[in-house]
Amino acid sequence: MIELLRKRRSIRSYTTDSIEPEMVRTLVEALLRAPTSRNLKPWSFIVVEDRDLLGKLSESKEHGSSFLRRAPLGIVICGDPRVSDVWTEDCSIAAILVQTVAQSLGLGSCWIQIRQRRHDENSTADNYIRDLLGIPEPVQVECIIAIGHPSIAREPVPASELDYHKVKRNRFSDPWQE
Ligand SMILES: Cc1cc2nc3c(=O)[nH]c(=O)nc-3n(C[C@H](O)[C@H](O)[C@H](O)COP(=O)(O)O)c2cc1C
Repeated sequence: MIELLRKRRSIRSYTTDSIEPEMVRTLVEALLRAPTSRNLKPWSFIVVEDRDLLGKLSESKEHGSSFLRRAPLGIVICGDPRVSDVWTEDCSIAAILVQTVAQSLGLGSCWIQIRQRRHDENSTADNYIRDLLGIPEPVQVECIIAIGHPSIAREPVPASELDYHKVKRNRFSDPWQE
């Protein structure tokens, strides 16, 4: 696991290859194995492989979603606030788990933030996707995870660049490392 994390980078460039159905099934299993507060499972997941829909989803935001157009797979992660007040945490855990499992399969992925983001000055990214995919109120979209076979390799972040100053010892004022 730590070796996966040492090599982990967001990947936004993909080959034109589709993702093997067995891999998609493994990714779905990873989502469904994510832990949730009180085991309430407030999430739902929309697996999108339709090229036309991926193109439209890539226009969810003005910045930071366009690369989804060239991804063979997008997983839209939704949460239901009626089911749990901590649905954002539950959705985020499922998202990072599926990204990590994707990496373990040799795939590349990147998170696209939707919650709290705008589509344009008139509508939110959430409402744009709601209309596109028929998501009922009050279910919300947390994010989309773009996944594909990487067409680039990104350098791992060296251990020497980790933000150890953000780690404290016992009290906030005291650094963990001198
Ligand atoms: C909560 C969250 C939201 C993010 N939203 C976006 C996004 O909308 N578009 C994007 O291209 N990358 C997005 N990213 C990816 C980050 O930009 C990326 O993780 C960060 O720059 C560090 O790079 P690395 O993942 O390669 O280490 C998001 C990541 C997280 C954790």
